[in-house]
Amino acid sequence: MTFPTHRPRRLRQSPAVRRLVRETHVLPSQLILPMFVREGIDEPQPVSSMPGVVQHTLDSLRGAVADAAAAGIGGVMLFGVPAERDAVGSCADDERGILNVATRAVVAEVGDALVVQTDLCLDEFTDHGHCGVLDAAGRVDNDATLERYASMALSQARAGSAMLGLSGMMDGQTAAVRGALDEAGFTDTMILAYSAKYSGAIYGPFREAVDSQLTGDRHTYQLDPANGREGVREALDDVEQGADIVMVKPALPYLDVLADVRAAVDVPVWAYQVSGEYAMIAAAAANGWIDGRGVMLESLLAIRRAGADAILTYAAVEAAGWLRESL
Ligand code: PBG
Repeated sequence: MTFPTHRPRRLRQSPAVRRLVRETHVLPSQLILPMFVREGIDEPQPVSSMPGVVQHTLDSLRGAVADAAAAGIGGVMLFGVPAERDAVGSCADDERGILNVATRAVVAEVGDALVVQTDLCLDEFTDHGHCGVLDAAGRVDNDATLERYASMALSQARAGSAMLGLSGMMDGQTAAVRGALDEAGFTDTMILAYSAKYSGAIYGPFREAVDSQLTGDRHTYQLDPANGREGVREALDDVEQGADIVMVKPALPYLDVLADVRAAVDVPVWAYQVSGEYAMIAAAAANGWIDGRGVMLESLLAIRRAGADAILTYAAVEAAGWLRESL
């Protein structure tokens, strides 16, 4: 009988040794909580497909952001759900629009305790639910949409958003928004470019969360799930256009893209654990089929290991609590 000369198990023999050789960590400061604020409601409304997630009132949002700051997470990403929608998404760049009002309120509440970010996209605000405005033939008009995004960027910056999350997947959106911000003197407003955002079925619960009006799909502007190299190309393009941070979205099914983007760029790379990823874990956990906490923490660790510097996750505050406990 010959015995192995190499014994990798030596490094797994005890919690103390494992802790010492661990390659990857998840810190509360690396988590960002997406939050929804809805106009015209008196009580927070649960999102049924995302247990624990609600559409906030202005008041409940303020409280929840203060809790998020106390939990030590890195930031929040705000999404607005307006009472009225139209073809061009007028509420999006209206100073009195729900997202801009909420941003002001939140910044007044938490100041710099965490980084207040806002979603810059038209889909929550249009009556057709697309991420841009439509041309006469009903197609999403790229360049007309860029003008809307530039205007949204200015209203969000004026409202105090520190970082704009460009999630619409229009060509040239990073350059258009950077140009508009700089020209207006908002040179410190950061741009998070959702560079590799894939079109697929995993955003289902989010559509409930924002009462999405979309009937078709987003295949003409979001990436085809079959294409990994194209995701890297989009990230490089956004860096060239001035993105401060690039993103891969969804997260867990796209770890290969995440790792490739991480290797290709020098700016921070973030990942978005999207609504469907969250819902799958929550649903299985609610049935007692998996250990929800274990699977969530393992997913976040895997996303970090693949290359994400920070992660947008609906579990941010809860996970921050778990991470503290396990320190
Ligand atoms: C578009 C946007 C979407 C999400 C974030 N920003 C929806 C979409 O592209 O259809 C999805 C996030 C999630 O599923 O958690 N503004």
